[in-house]
Amino acid sequence: MSPTPIHFVILAAGKGTRMKSELPKVLHPVGGEPMIVRILRTAGRFQPVTSTVVVGHMADMVRASLKAFPNAGTVVQEPQLGTGHALLQAAPPLRGQSGTVVLLYGDVPMLSAETISRLVAHHHATKAAATVITAHLPNPTGLGRIVREHGKLARIVEERDATPGQKTITEFNSGIYAFELDGLFDALGRISTANAQGEYYLPDLVGIFRGDGKTVETLVLDDPDELRGVNSRAELALMNAQVRDQRNAAVMAAGVTLVDPTSAWIGPDVEIGPDTTIHPNVYLEGATRIGARCEIHAGVRVINSTIGDGTVVQNYCVVRDSTIDQNVAMGPFSHIRPDSKVAAGAHIGNFVELKKTSLGPGAKANHLAYLGDATVGAKVNIGAGVITCNYDGVHKHQTVIDDGAFIGTDSQLVAPVRVGREAYVAAGSTITEDVPAGALAIGRGKQENKPGWVERKKAKTPAKK
Ligand code: UD1
Ligand code: CA
Repeated sequence: MSPTPIHFVILAAGKGTRMKSELPKVLHPVGGEPMIVRILRTAGRFQPVTSTVVVGHMADMVRASLKAFPNAGTVVQEPQLGTGHALLQAAPPLRGQSGTVVLLYGDVPMLSAETISRLVAHHHATKAAATVITAHLPNPTGLGRIVREHGKLARIVEERDATPGQKTITEFNSGIYAFELDGLFDALGRISTANAQGEYYLPDLVGIFRGDGKTVETLVLDDPDELRGVNSRAELALMNAQVRDQRNAAVMAAGVTLVDPTSAWIGPDVEIGPDTTIHPNVYLEGATRIGARCEIHAGVRVINSTIGDGTVVQNYCVVRDSTIDQNVAMGPFSHIRPDSKVAAGAHIGNFVELKKTSLGPGAKANHLAYLGDATVGAKVNIGAGVITCNYDGVHKHQTVIDDGAFIGTDSQLVAPVRVGREAYVAAGSTITEDVPAGALAIGRGKQENKPGWVERKKAKTPAKK
């Protein structure tokens, strides 16, 4: 990229009143990640020398969300006296630095790296002191208007300070700028609060720079879409729909079938192989990888998990922090909890829950089972209703079931316990001792039949009148 050092400042101090939220606005998710994270990710593509987030409202929560960006610092703006004042707070981390500062907003999450590149390139090519991104909207109510003289940017007028004539201007200030660091903070120090809101207006820099004989440029975008900010839950929903549509278009272009692209929610870090089909209302989140030729049916949620090629996940399964190998048949209604591993060709059926459990190749647990803290070998058959009793109220214990074993329906395996290779457990058993390889274990009361019992009972109890 540009040889000039790049710095980012991201304004995120505002309250976001209209969100009516306990969560800072910039932490509301767009495209499966907090807005501020999305923006820092975009900024990260420029390998900035510094990135500074200006925080204020609920600063600690915003700061805590930046863990994934060790190079991003924060400065606190308290009280919040306007956008000019906000940028001024970034002076300490930028002291002694040189280059270009790009100013972004924590609540404008769609801005693309391509647009930032164009901004910086235009800014450098024109040797401007400041370059602002603008665009046209038929009715830019509430936004600052771009006032031009002889085609050149003369000043930016806020809605509240605008004359009726200026309010008819369709070109608006995006609020996104590139600045030369040299002279920036000197000029910021000269902004006044003589305006309708009594705030330090960042756009006043235009007049200050021009008064100093410096160049102020604009980059006019054809499409204002990516300049949109989020101010309400309704705008948040619209933006999420837009991000989803973009993401899903890319997913489909890579050879994945989305039965309903308006209801597939695929996170930014998710990878999906070709010829996989994703049905409606599917959520793929975090660092999830889905193989090729998979079928992911409606209502499935997969979080931070890997699913191998050719696996079919029937409706309403939840898979979290686990690995499912190729050609597995799962669901409907399976629950795969963290640290589970399902080997190739295994079957996990309805109402089967796995937790910290590995199933060997070709193993089957087709109906109503709980397998926790268990190691299940290859081709093991787990009958309906089998439960590992892994918890004694204090500690968790392991169950090991060796290759080829058969666990009869409705059995309980009281851990720690081991069932040996190819052993059988009779249906309805409570297994408390290890079962040797090749043995049959029967752990239940013996059945006793009492012939004629009902007749005798009737004789003893006279029928009521
Ligand atoms: C600002 C611009 C306006 C532009 C619009 C684009 C100014 C004076 N006006 O207006 O020309 O068209 O953005 O959306 O700059 N913030 C802080 N600290 C503050 C004030 C604001 O961090 O003291 C942050 C807010 O959290 C918000 C952003 O800056 O994310 C914009 O602030 P806001 O007060 O909403 O400015 P606008 O009135 O929208
Ligand atoms: Ca705003």
